[in-house]
Amino acid sequence: MWLKKVFLIFATLFYHFSLVGGCYEGERAALMSFKSLLTDPSNRLASWKGENCCSWKGIECSSSGRVVVVNLRNPHPGEVMISINQIQHLDLSFNNFVFSKLPVEISNLTKLTYLNLSNAMFQDSIDMQFSNLTSLRSLDLSCANLVPDFSSVSVSLTLQPKLDVGSFLSFISYGYLSSPNLRWLEGLRNLRYLVMTGVDLSKASESFHWAEPVSSLSNLILLRLSNCNISGRIPIGQLLNLTSLSVLDMRSNIHDT
Ligand SMILES: *[C@@H]1O[C@H](CO)[C@@H](O)[C@H](O)[C@H]1NC(C)=O
Ligand SMILES: *[C@@H]1O[C@H](CO)[C@@H](O)[C@H](O)[C@H]1NC(C)=O
Ligand SMILES: *[C@@H]1O[C@H](CO)[C@@H](O)[C@H](O)[C@H]1NC(C)=O
Ligand SMILES: *[C@@H]1O[C@H](CO)[C@@H](O)[C@H](O)[C@H]1NC(C)=O
Ligand SMILES: *[C@@H]1O[C@H](CO)[C@@H](O)[C@H](O)[C@H]1NC(C)=O
Repeated sequence: MWLKKVFLIFATLFYHFSLVGGCYEGERAALMSFKSLLTDPSNRLASWKGENCCSWKGIECSSSGRVVVVNLRNPHPGEVMISINQIQHLDLSFNNFVFSKLPVEISNLTKLTYLNLSNAMFQDSIDMQFSNLTSLRSLDLSCANLVPDFSSVSVSLTLQPKLDVGSFLSFISYGYLSSPNLRWLEGLRNLRYLVMTGVDLSKASESFHWAEPVSSLSNLILLRLSNCNISGRIPIGQLLNLTSLSVLDMRSNIHDT
């Protein structure tokens, strides 16, 4: 199911390409680049060559030549058939995973240096799913996007219009992620970019020391925790160790004054 979803993304990306030799050129290219991410010790993808990707093993096409099914289910559970454990860069941002949970397989992708699940309509609680991804340099889990909010715009007809861009922006939620604490960040020492815009940290921020795991990320350059439903004071003392930090964004939370 996971592989099928990954593929759907490629299929969407290359939707515009043209039909060649019984299969859309862009869809074939997407499958080939997907294949290049896989290690295939038992050579199950041997048939994945030639022009007509509709005839490749595991692929089914519609009557109009669109790839509609990618079935790479392992017929011999227990044996390693295909693994995607070598992937270093995974970007699933702005795909619609229709409120499903974060795929458990992600925990095993320990070679990942870049993971972008931004606004992909996941609904889950983050506890230890990412804790073994110690190679990560960039992690984007944002589930809210800052957009112009025209509903809040009021125009004065008598005065010279004066724009304050800040007040015309609001967050729109795509999916719902929450995290009851941030301890899972402790081992991710290589992180440079951490974006969690819109992830609900209301539970985490009930604890006075909630930001301490972040302080162990000494390479951090950018940290976005805006619109996270964080209450209490900004834990500046817990962030002082982040000497490389150049962007800290904690807008739209519920700070005490
Ligand atoms: C994640 O992807 C979105 C676009 O899909 C992009 O705007 C964002 O910058 C990416 N995040 C990171 C940390 O690269
Ligand atoms: C993760 O990898 C281990 C060892 O390779 C395997 O036993 C386990 O089933 C994998 N878990 C998932 C969720 O893919
Ligand atoms: C992380 O790795 C450890 C040791 O290999 C393993 O016991 C644990 O289950 C892994 N955690 C996840 C969430 O996969
Ligand atoms: C913010 O957190 C409170 C609990 O502290 C909860 O009742 C509320 O639903 C949360 N709001 C959002 C938008 O997540
Ligand atoms: C800051 O770094 C020092 C030295 O590495 C460490 O002892 C201290 O606990 C760190 N502070 C926090 C808030 O993590």
